[in-house]
Amino acid sequence: MENAIEIRDLTKSFHNMLTKEDVIAVDHLTLDVPPGQIFGFLGPNGAGKTTTIKMLLGLIFPDSGTAHIFGQPAGEIDVKRKISYLPESPYFYEHLSGYEVMDFYGRLFNIPAKARKKRVEELLEQVGLGAQMHKRLRHYSKGMLQRVGLAQALINDPQLLFLDEPTSGLDPIAHLDIRDLILRLREEGKTLFISSHQLSDVEMVCDRVSILNHGKLLRVDNLSALLAGETTQVRAANITDEVFQGVKEIAPESMVSDGALSARIDPEKVDELVDYIRRSGGSVVAVTPVQRTLEDIFIETVRGGNLS
Ligand SMILES: Nc1ncnc2c1ncn2[C@@H]1O[C@H](COP(=O)(O)OP(=O)(O)O)[C@@H](O)[C@H]1O
Ligand SMILES: [Mg+2]
Repeated sequence: MENAIEIRDLTKSFHNMLTKEDVIAVDHLTLDVPPGQIFGFLGPNGAGKTTTIKMLLGLIFPDSGTAHIFGQPAGEIDVKRKISYLPESPYFYEHLSGYEVMDFYGRLFNIPAKARKKRVEELLEQVGLGAQMHKRLRHYSKGMLQRVGLAQALINDPQLLFLDEPTSGLDPIAHLDIRDLILRLREEGKTLFISSHQLSDVEMVCDRVSILNHGKLLRVDNLSALLAGETTQVRAANITDEVFQGVKEIAPESMVSDGALSARIDPEKVDELVDYIRRSGGSVVAVTPVQRTLEDIFIETVRGGNLS
């Protein structure tokens, strides 16, 4: 099946007026996004996520490289009809109601009056704003504005949605609602390209995840493959500072407090660590397998500059 997105060697730099230097925002990025999936585009602030999305939307142009969406060059009118975008901080006119904003976007897409009313009400209902659709936006919370943003991004029934940091600044309940909505959109067969620097929400819903830093792709894999492989937690007591020095050589990720040790270690190194602790007069309290989180992998990858 045709990829939803195909990016080849995409590169974009900006000139920084203050330092008079060029910043490479996106650096020879090559990436495929299969259709019908939730694709996580992760990276710390400044990694180049928004710049990439803007090039995919045809809002800015690359210095070099290509991007195709459903087989057509990014930015073409035909493509624009099939996609939509929730910007990082959506801006709406505060004096309008949720209904009026949606009606405005419906007009932009030339949806006839009767069908428009139906679609606007349906979408606002879907994002949980049914009861508040006639309130002015200035009385909406950040979470409610984000829902209007999502409803607006759905007005043209897109096949591919770009959501740039969709949950940033939202409270945990709003996170869950947005997550449920994202899952529902996947069930309808849509492709979602979601950028985030927060890992917990993305971790729960993405099928495939990529990690970007300094404009370069560090990793891309299915979420299940990224999370595969456990680490082990070893806890021990009676660990002196001197013994702890030895522990750190075997298990660099370890902490000690009042003689109590907590160490994270690869399963194959557990024997070595346990032997060392026993020989040095410490006592092992617990050895527990721990599932790695996406956060662990993110930190490992970004710190290690891991290329794969
Ligand atoms: N219009 C611009 N002018 C100058 N520099 C920019 C511009 N847009 C982005 N940048 C720079 O490009 C890099 C990537 O930015 P961005 O794509 O916004 O990252 P992210 O969305 O991952 O936080 C940053 O160093 C940022 O300062
Ligand atoms: Mg951004």
